[in-house]
Amino acid sequence: METWILDRRDVAAVMALVGRDALMERVVERLTEGLADIGHGRRELSPLRDGFERSEPVPGILEWMPHRDPGDSITIKTVAYSPGNPERFSLPTIIGTVARYDDTTGALTALMDGVLLTAVRTGAASAVASRLLARPDSRTLGLVGAGAQAVTQLHALSLVFPLERALVWDTDPAHLESFARRAAFTGVPVQVADPARIAAEADIVSTATSVAVGAGPVLPDTAHREHLHINAVGADLVGKTELPLTWLRRAFVAADHPEQARREGECQRLAPADPVTGLAELVAEPQRAEDRRDGPTVFDSTGIALEDALAMEVFLEVAAEHGLGSRMSIEHHPADALDPYALQPVPAAASL
Ligand SMILES: NC(=O)c1ccc[n+]([C@@H]2O[C@H](COP(=O)([O-])OP(=O)(O)OC[C@H]3O[C@@H](n4cnc5c(N)ncnc54)[C@H](O)[C@@H]3O)[C@@H](O)[C@H]2O)c1
Repeated sequence: METWILDRRDVAAVMALVGRDALMERVVERLTEGLADIGHGRRELSPLRDGFERSEPVPGILEWMPHRDPGDSITIKTVAYSPGNPERFSLPTIIGTVARYDDTTGALTALMDGVLLTAVRTGAASAVASRLLARPDSRTLGLVGAGAQAVTQLHALSLVFPLERALVWDTDPAHLESFARRAAFTGVPVQVADPARIAAEADIVSTATSVAVGAGPVLPDTAHREHLHINAVGADLVGKTELPLTWLRRAFVAADHPEQARREGECQRLAPADPVTGLAELVAEPQRAEDRRDGPTVFDSTGIALEDALAMEVFLEVAAEHGLGSRMSIEHHPADALDPYALQPVPAAASL
């Protein structure tokens, strides 16, 4: 049995063939369907992820994020958060790979890049949540943190709202300066604005920062539009949060994974009695979200492997349509299943 591999050239080819907008739209719709399945009890939410935290040489974490669709597949993303990467190594802060296993045999059936996939599905998750909780006529998006995820936050939200401008802030002047170029393909005009102005003028805000543990909030609790919806994307470590607690307490809070959000998302500072609603419940019963749109709302996005599994499906479908990817016999499946030394003949070319 062979493993189907989509490397960086294959994911780039998927993007080029489908187009960025259509790919993002497909992932938004797939996430909506998958979350609705969970909300209606037809599918299980992914279990909590786990990981190894490191403080040296670059503070961060490497996590494994599992999702199981019984009888079909198990998808596991290994993903590292290494905020020193861009400056020290010219590498993204978020690096990962996604592996898919056959749920019956355990065989590795597919393996793909997780960097582009993570950025796309994280933008898509904010689009799903914002479509439920933000006003449909939202025109101003605020972005706090102008790194990699900010690009796909703006992209995804520009596809589901009539955005007229994006107000952006980052503590790194170089990242702030380059954002307009990186986001130009969206066609949404970008203006630099400090966090207080973003809070005051935005209809929707996405926070996606690498703020250090204990150094938040990145957005002040100052005057804001009554209906402001915030996608809090960057709180995903114990002690790392982006929003003022006062703001969080008065907002209606939804989370992709309420238990995970209470452990490491914005919700880690809420009391157990403070309500946190599952995003899947809202997708299944959208009226519950729509009833909240005129007041402050938060989507606490910590990221779940279900999203990775669904986005991977989209990439694999396009790859299948166009014959993309390569096949490798990574696992040793002996000619005699009971004899590990019963080696299969290796073709001459492959043994070079
Ligand atoms: N929820 C999810 O599913 C999900 C998925 C991917 C990444 N993330 C998280 O999103 C965050 C951003 O990821 P990225 O890939 O964009 O990283 P990145 O390094 O590309 O960008 C982060 C940006 O935040 C800026 N920043 C740091 N402190 C700031 C502050 N106080 N105010 C404003 N800007 C500040 C940095 O200068 C940098 O430009 C990370 O915490 C990451 O773990 C969440």
